[in-house]
Amino acid sequence: MKKRVFIIVLDSLGAGEAPDAALFGDGDCNTLKRISGSPFFRFESMKKMGMGNIDGQDYLPSERYPRAAVCRLREKSAGKDTTIGHWEIAGVISESPMPTYPDGFPDEIIRAFEAETGRGTLLNKPYSGTEAIKDYGEEHVRTGKLIVYTSADSVFQIAAHEQVVPLEELYDICRKARKILVGRNAVGRVIARPFVGTCPADFTRTANRHDFSVEPPKDTLLDGVSKAGMTVYSIGKINDIFAGRGVTEKVYTHSNTEGMQLTLEALGKDFEGLCFTNLVDFDMLYGHRNDVDGYADAFAEFDKWLPSFTSKMRDGDVLMITADHGCDPGDVSTDHSREYVPLIVYGKNIKPVNLGTRYGFCDIAATVGDYLYGSYTGDGKSFLREILRPTETEKKLCGAAQNAMANSYAPYSGYNVGAALITDDGVIFTGCNIENASFSPSVCAERTAIFKAVSEGRRNFSMLAVCGGKNGVISGAFPPCGVCRQVLSEFCAPTMPVLIITGKRTFRRTTLGEILPLSFGPDFLK
Ligand code: THU
Repeated sequence: MKKRVFIIVLDSLGAGEAPDAALFGDGDCNTLKRISGSPFFRFESMKKMGMGNIDGQDYLPSERYPRAAVCRLREKSAGKDTTIGHWEIAGVISESPMPTYPDGFPDEIIRAFEAETGRGTLLNKPYSGTEAIKDYGEEHVRTGKLIVYTSADSVFQIAAHEQVVPLEELYDICRKARKILVGRNAVGRVIARPFVGTCPADFTRTANRHDFSVEPPKDTLLDGVSKAGMTVYSIGKINDIFAGRGVTEKVYTHSNTEGMQLTLEALGKDFEGLCFTNLVDFDMLYGHRNDVDGYADAFAEFDKWLPSFTSKMRDGDVLMITADHGCDPGDVSTDHSREYVPLIVYGKNIKPVNLGTRYGFCDIAATVGDYLYGSYTGDGKSFLREILRPTETEKKLCGAAQNAMANSYAPYSGYNVGAALITDDGVIFTGCNIENASFSPSVCAERTAIFKAVSEGRRNFSMLAVCGGKNGVISGAFPPCGVCRQVLSEFCAPTMPVLIITGKRTFRRTTLGEILPLSFGPDFLK
């Protein structure tokens, strides 16, 4: 079974103010809640997924039998911009925000930029992009000077008319700016903002915008997936956000509609790895412009599109829908808002559990890395084992443990215990607890199983399942005792999965290393 993960970022679709929102100048913001009040809002597919079940979204209708695993994620990084948000989704926490320039860029930067490009500059202040070309476009066309501006984000933006500064030259100018903007001036993005038109009234920006991002400071999920020899397919501005690092194939988009179409096409391709899509219209066209209805309408389009995607997903496919920050279109500010983001995880192998609220967008990366290549080393904690449906082996092993429990001989305690241990080549050894009238010679189920196996010549094990309870009824978790853990650790790796059976058809996944850290072993006898 080929494993593929599709991450779709609904850019800026926050799910309520984060606990530290005030530190970011935000309060009382919830992008999703805001658009849910619009008459254009449509909530069918996403309702079925369980989006309304996510913590804090009680204004939305919930779903009794959701199809997806859901949770709300809080950001750990010290920033609320696109780059920092995406980096954290990909497993890199940023300890400090990227530099911003509320008073424009310092002189030394502008001087170096002018010297490198051979062109003068105009504006150099935080400014609206559309106003910038309206107010400075004519002078730019007349003089050839570049319109340099910023925003509340960490961006160095350069607007230029396509007929005055050919696209390739503008992109080259951006690369030069990128080389100047390093160290404490390492802005998140240098953005080429080309426009066309004949006068301020009809100057319009073109789709040839291009972002030149600062490189992530360490390996991301994308690097991990590509280094494992798998595909990393970027749709939309993902490639730019990661400065191309770890991306093996890329395609840019001009709209959400196109992004969705291309993601659907990727689904039809034959690859193994990650398809990472960013749908930027939410943020760019509606969030920043405080257009609640437009935002709701774009969400409705996505909601309507979703079944066309999920219906074509293959067995090993996992879909994750999330966001990189908020941008509440109904609050006074047009900037991003520090919000939780929703996470929806759907696939044939995904159990529809509610994971509540988790701290760190990076848990997405840890989970995807865990799923795709298993040796993820970046930031975050994987929740994979909480969302994967039971495998055939797990089901078989849990069944065997329960059958073994029926043979338990426990007349003194009344607690019946069953254990099942599977060897690396698929042979199952079971055991039950066997008590004794003089009590101390009693032996536990796990040790019965492992002693049976070892005495039959088997020493390589890949999984253990245990259950127990009074009078043969599973009482909830019945984890192995300390002595059994110690005996198991003699033959089993710390990474060996241990299934703690909690009911007839339910279990919790753990590992031997987790239930017996710092175990005593032969190394201490050297
Ligand atoms: N028991 C096991 O079989 N496995 C364990 O890991 C914990 C305890 C048994 C021993 C005894 O017969 C009964 O459960 C009550 O302690």
